[in-house]
Amino acid sequence: MQVNKMVNYKIADESLAEKGKESLYVAENKMPVTAKIIRERFAKEKPLVGITVAGCLHITKETANLARTLKAGGADVWLCGSNPLSTQDDVTAALVKEDINVFAWHGNTDEEFYWCIRECLKAKPNILIDDGADMIVTAHKEFPELIENGTIIACQEETTTGVKRFKAMDKQGVLKVPLFPVNDARCKNQFDNELGTGQGVIAAIYGMHVLFAGKVVVIAGYGHCSSGMALRARGLGADVIVTEVDPIKALQARFAGFQVMPIEKTLPIADIILTATGCKHVIPPSKEMFDKLKEGVILGNLGHFDIEIPTKELYEHAMEIKPIRQDVEELIFPDGKKIYLLAKGRLANLVLSEGHPAEVMDMSFGLQSLMSEYIAKNKDNLKPGMVDVPVEIDDRVGFLKLQSMGVEIDTLTEEQYNYIHGYEEGT
Ligand SMILES: NC(=O)c1ccc[n+]([C@@H]2O[C@H](COP(=O)([O-])OP(=O)(O)OC[C@H]3O[C@@H](n4cnc5c(N)ncnc54)[C@H](O)[C@@H]3O)[C@@H](O)[C@H]2O)c1
Repeated sequence: MQVNKMVNYKIADESLAEKGKESLYVAENKMPVTAKIIRERFAKEKPLVGITVAGCLHITKETANLARTLKAGGADVWLCGSNPLSTQDDVTAALVKEDINVFAWHGNTDEEFYWCIRECLKAKPNILIDDGADMIVTAHKEFPELIENGTIIACQEETTTGVKRFKAMDKQGVLKVPLFPVNDARCKNQFDNELGTGQGVIAAIYGMHVLFAGKVVVIAGYGHCSSGMALRARGLGADVIVTEVDPIKALQARFAGFQVMPIEKTLPIADIILTATGCKHVIPPSKEMFDKLKEGVILGNLGHFDIEIPTKELYEHAMEIKPIRQDVEELIFPDGKKIYLLAKGRLANLVLSEGHPAEVMDMSFGLQSLMSEYIAKNKDNLKPGMVDVPVEIDDRVGFLKLQSMGVEIDTLTEEQYNYIHGYEEGT
C-alpha cells in the first residue's frame, strides 16, 4: 500500500499501472459517448471546476473512464470500491498515475471497505456517485455535517439495490440529500442490467468452465438483470427454469416460454442456480433446503449483495471448503455431497470476469457524467429526496449512442407530435 502527497491513495500495487493503462485504452475505444463525445466537450467547457466528486463504484476499466471524463470536466475525483471483490488492481494503479485519488484494492475486508469510503468522504465531496448506497448511507450516519452545511449538493445511484435503499430512506423521511436514481433511467437499466448482467451468465461459465447446453439452469428473478440472464442461458442451450415472487413477472417469464416454479421445487433438479433479485435468502438458509440441492450444483449470484445465496449458512453447513480455481470453492457437506460456490456469493460477473462490456457501461456512465454536470449547473435549485433523471438527459445519451454507432432514426413531424399528444382525432 502506498501513500503519495500529490494524489491521495491506498491501492494494492503501483507497479500494475502499465497493464492498467492498456485496459483503460481498450475500454475507452468502446465508450465513444463517455470517453470521447462528452469528455471532449467537458475538456473545453470545464463544467465541473470547483466540484469534488466521490464515487463508490466497481473500479473497473469502464469506471476509470468515467473518472477521467469527470476530471476532464475540471472535477477533483475520489474513488473507492463498491464491492470488496470487484476492484481491478491494475486499473487503480493506472488511475493514481493520472492524479485520480483512489482508495480500493481487490479483496479488502468489511472494515477496510468502510475505511476507504470514509477516506473519500473526508475529501468533502460535493457530488456522490454510489453503487449500492453504502457511501451515501455512511455520509448520513457519520458525516452529517457534509449534508447540513450544504457541502453535498446531490447524489447519484447506479444500481437497483441502492435505489431501493434510498426509496426506503425517503419513505421514512431520513433521506437528507437530493438523490438521482440513475439506475432507473431507460438508458441505464434497459441496457446495463439486461445486456450486461444478461451476459454475466458467461462469467458463470468461466467459473466452472461448464457447458450450459443440456443443463437445467435456474434463474431466480425475471427483472431487468435476470430476464437477460434467462434469455442468454436459453440461447446457450440450457433448459431454463425461472423463479419469481411477482405474479406479472412470473407470467412474462411463462409466456416467454420458460418453466416457472418455486425455488424449493428446483433444488433437486438444478445443475446451476443463478440469482439476481436484490432480495435476501432466495435459496432458503436451512439444512432441509441444503439437503435438497443436487450433487454438483453450481451456485452463483449476480445481485448486488452476497445474501441472495445464503453464503454464510452454506459455509457453516459445509464440513470442508476447498478453493478449486480462482474465486470458485467446492463445499463438501456432512453427507459427502459436493456443491460449487462462485465468487463467495458476490457478483459473479464482476469477480469471475471483468463486469459489463464497455459498450453498455458507455451509456450508464454517459448518464452519470451528464448528471454530474446537471447537478453542478442546478446546485441552487435541488431539494432533498428522490428526483428522476430528466428525460432530456436520458434521451440525449440515447441519441449520442446511436450517433456513435452511425444509426439514424426518424423525428416526429409537428403533425405527428400534435396527434400523439392530443385527444381530438379519433375514429
Ligand atoms: N451484476 C451486476 O453487474 C449488476 C448490474 C445491475 C444490477 N445488479 C443488481 O442485480 C439485482 C437485480 O437488479 P434488477 O435491476 O434486475 O432488479 P429488478 O427489480 O428489475 O428485478 C428483480 C426481480 O427479482 C424478483 N424477486 C425479488 N425477490 C425474489 C425472490 N425471493 N425470488 C425470486 N424472484 C425475486 C422481483 O420480483 C423482480 O422481478 C439488484 O441487486 C441490482 O442492484 C447487478
